[in-house]
Amino acid sequence: MPAEHIPAIDVPAPFHNGRRGRWNAWFFATFDRYINVILRRHKSRAFAGIAPGDVLELGPGVGANFAFIPSGSRVLAVEPNRAMHPRLIARAEDHGLDLELLEVGAEVLPLPDNSVGEVICSLVLCTVEQPERVLAEIRRVLRPGGRFRFVEHVAAAPVSPRRWLQEALTRPWAWVFEGCRLCRDTGRVIQDAGFARVEITRRRPAWSVFVPVNSMIYGVATT
Ligand SMILES: C[S@@+](CC[C@H](N)C(=O)[O-])C[C@H]1O[C@@H](n2cnc3c(N)ncnc32)[C@H](O)[C@@H]1O
Repeated sequence: MPAEHIPAIDVPAPFHNGRRGRWNAWFFATFDRYINVILRRHKSRAFAGIAPGDVLELGPGVGANFAFIPSGSRVLAVEPNRAMHPRLIARAEDHGLDLELLEVGAEVLPLPDNSVGEVICSLVLCTVEQPERVLAEIRRVLRPGGRFRFVEHVAAAPVSPRRWLQEALTRPWAWVFEGCRLCRDTGRVIQDAGFARVEITRRRPAWSVFVPVNSMIYGVATT
């Protein structure tokens, strides 16, 4: 969708959902190794060959993707959720990354046009308020030839048991996981965002206990 047709929204402010936020930070810190194992194929393909230098990560949480970013890089981390920050900062140090924390939502990025070569995210476009606006921002800040690399869970095929499960769990899931939408067609949003080239693979993790989020896509979009 052209950026001028996307309705304007308020800049998402930093937030902290109290106990629920702390629980989410604990959850992702505890399960990120497991999640990285079940998504090994997805992440190793989407994040292979990230160019060293500045990397913009949207919604890094507690730093699950830091293992895929070349050591010594500067990571511009767009993470509005303050409950994630203490672990995120510690993980960046563990991985030898120079962290610049941007406490804003990805809908309005505080970065100049054409300023970064790599943008990455995982399990984030399900949660942002307005994915079309986030995609427009990614395109704005990427340099020509820059890459947006993503791993996301998406809506299952319509009229399938997995989709019924997603629909039944939509509200409680969004409450527990701070706004995560199970039935979002994120692949379509990325395809329609106006990148010069989009490679998307739809592939279920080989085995995972997190059944509602087992419909996954990964890929790279190039400006
Ligand atoms: C499901 S977690 C995924 C965390 C991490 N990327 C991972 O794969 O483990 C979603 C993350 O998106 C962040 N988030 C929520 N709203 C956001 C927004 N508007 N812009 C950027 N990040 C956001 C959350 O705070 C959280 O860290």
